[in-house]
Amino acid sequence: MKFKALTAIAALVVAPGLALAQADDDNLVINGEIEAVTKTAAPAHMEDTGVDTIMSGWHFRSDETQALQMDDFDNPGMIFVDLGIEQWNKVEGEAGNSCASCHEGPESMEGVRAVYPKWNEDAGEVRTLAHQINACRTENMEAEPYKYTGGQMANMEALISSKSRGMPVNVAIDGPVAEVWERGKELYYTRTGQLELSCANCHEDNYGNMIRADHLSQGQINGFPTYRLKNAKLNTSHARFKGCVRDTRAETFTPGGPEFIALELYVASRGNGLSVEGPSVRN
Ligand code: HEC
Ligand code: HEC
Repeated sequence: MKFKALTAIAALVVAPGLALAQADDDNLVINGEIEAVTKTAAPAHMEDTGVDTIMSGWHFRSDETQALQMDDFDNPGMIFVDLGIEQWNKVEGEAGNSCASCHEGPESMEGVRAVYPKWNEDAGEVRTLAHQINACRTENMEAEPYKYTGGQMANMEALISSKSRGMPVNVAIDGPVAEVWERGKELYYTRTGQLELSCANCHEDNYGNMIRADHLSQGQINGFPTYRLKNAKLNTSHARFKGCVRDTRAETFTPGGPEFIALELYVASRGNGLSVEGPSVRN
């Protein structure tokens, strides 16, 4: 089994040295004022992984792509933040409310992105930010939920993330979320598909290497939602997970489902200490 997986990854990964193999040393300062932490010591729970420094995916992109994220006028993701503001103020649903009816301005969301997914005591469950947004839509607005990885959800997540840019990701992994976190960790290390590759095979064992034409990052989600030049839209984390699982030629889990919620919590926790960057820009 192990041999097969190694063969698969060897076939995919081009030896380093062909291109700039390592993460670069650039600094991310957004709008000349938000100094983002894009490299920092790995959180204590990663002690056994061999990864001692965690890095934002920003470090693995070209200078041109990096530059797009350094100024909101150049960041194509900011257009969707504006669309998110329109959604925020729009009355929808039977209760006659908009988000603003209860939360006032979007500034009230400062710090929120940094701590999600998190435990919701009343519901007795781990909630992703997307789930919380939809809970407010269905319960507090009596409106239709947004499609989990759809454009309106991505816009709203971009707006809420933008209010936490520069703040350190700080998701809890103990207490009531511990079980879900363990499940997420297990999924992260489970090999899937014909290629028998786990998230860790690519994003822990091979970050810095080239895979096909792509420079492999640590697969962090501090930058989500992410504007991708490839599909010219905002992408949510579960849409990205789905794409990565599919690349191993496996049947993928459902976005918004229990497996991806657990995986999101675990992956988010591997970024504890990195700055929230969403909406970020990637290729
Ligand atoms: C009728 C009032 C009401 C409306 C309308 C409403 N919310 Fe909420 N929202 C709440 C309450 C109350 C909470 C706190 C519940 C909790 O944390 O258990 C909350 C919590 C949240 C949180 C989590 C904050 C945190 O600190 O964890 C987010 C995010 C959120 N709402 C987003 C939205 C968005 C986006 C909309 C519009 C699509 C919206 N809400 C509409 C009442 C509302
Ligand atoms: C076959 C190798 C491979 C596997 C396995 C894989 N990925 Fe990826 N992943 C990639 C490539 C290539 C990219 C694009 C370049 C990059 O950012 O690393 C990517 C990008 C990502 C990103 C975007 C990072 C950013 O900064 O925008 C996330 C998040 C991610 N992967 C998570 C996962 C998770 C979670 C799993 C396991 C379910 C997984 N990946 C499995 C190859 C892989």
